[in-house]
Amino acid sequence: MCHVKTVYAGKEVSLPNILIALFVRCPSVILERPCVEKTGKQIEGSPTRALKVSPPFDRYHFIDLDKGKTDFLRSTCGHRSDVQIHTGDCNDFLTKELLPTIQYKHFNRALCLLDPYGLHLDWEVMLQAGQSGAVDMFLNFPVMDINRNAMWKTSEKVPKARVDRMTKFWGDESWRQVAYAESPQAGLFGTEIVKQGNDEIAAAFRERLKNVAGFRFVPKPLPMRNSNNAVVYYLFLASHKSVAEKIINDIFSKYR
Ligand SMILES: C[S@@+](CC[C@H](N)C(=O)[O-])C[C@H]1O[C@@H](n2cnc3c(N)ncnc32)[C@H](O)[C@@H]1O
Repeated sequence: MCHVKTVYAGKEVSLPNILIALFVRCPSVILERPCVEKTGKQIEGSPTRALKVSPPFDRYHFIDLDKGKTDFLRSTCGHRSDVQIHTGDCNDFLTKELLPTIQYKHFNRALCLLDPYGLHLDWEVMLQAGQSGAVDMFLNFPVMDINRNAMWKTSEKVPKARVDRMTKFWGDESWRQVAYAESPQAGLFGTEIVKQGNDEIAAAFRERLKNVAGFRFVPKPLPMRNSNNAVVYYLFLASHKSVAEKIINDIFSKYR
């Protein structure tokens, strides 16, 4: 079993380690990548890969809204006593049931993988993970969906429901100051407010993960691009351990 070693009261002790994978995908789905379409080869989803990790975690929680996906996963690994599969909204399940049980003071630890397509996550999940002192987190920060849905060049045209969704994801309305700032070059009619680029938005979110959620180590995220070279996500690690930052910086540096 994968236990985290730590020193408590002068002794080295092992802490149970839990993997929480949110947003699962049916492992047999064929991804829409040209190389895969050409070969027709099927690619394993992250749950299947996570279950092969050695040494294993003590417990696995997989969560998705889509019953078809969780049913499929149940049919492949639901028999395992260390695997729990939940169908439903991860925001409710995590903030009300699972995350409150994982705390530094309870001597357990978790790695949480958050992979939403878009703005489906609530800030409360990231806040609780950060404040627990016991949960490290990978997050696919969905910048393309953010730009499509909420951060338009003409901010006043964005429908209120999308603005509200953005605020739920970000945690408060401070994203507005990040997204729209004065242009350094004065226009013909004085100062101009311009929409900021992806890197500025990701940098501001990184500061939030550190300063508001309370993660001690948040390395610079890795931009994940589509075949047109457009950034779809920024892959973040947020951790409480400096060694995690070091490992991720080593890995990310190979792909920058
Ligand atoms: C990008 S896919 C995840 C892919 C997965 N990480 C993999 O590698 O197989 C996003 C998933 O998020 C799920 N989803 C969207 N909103 C959700 C929510 N509020 N709670 C739980 N799952 C959600 C969707 O059903 C979809 O399956």
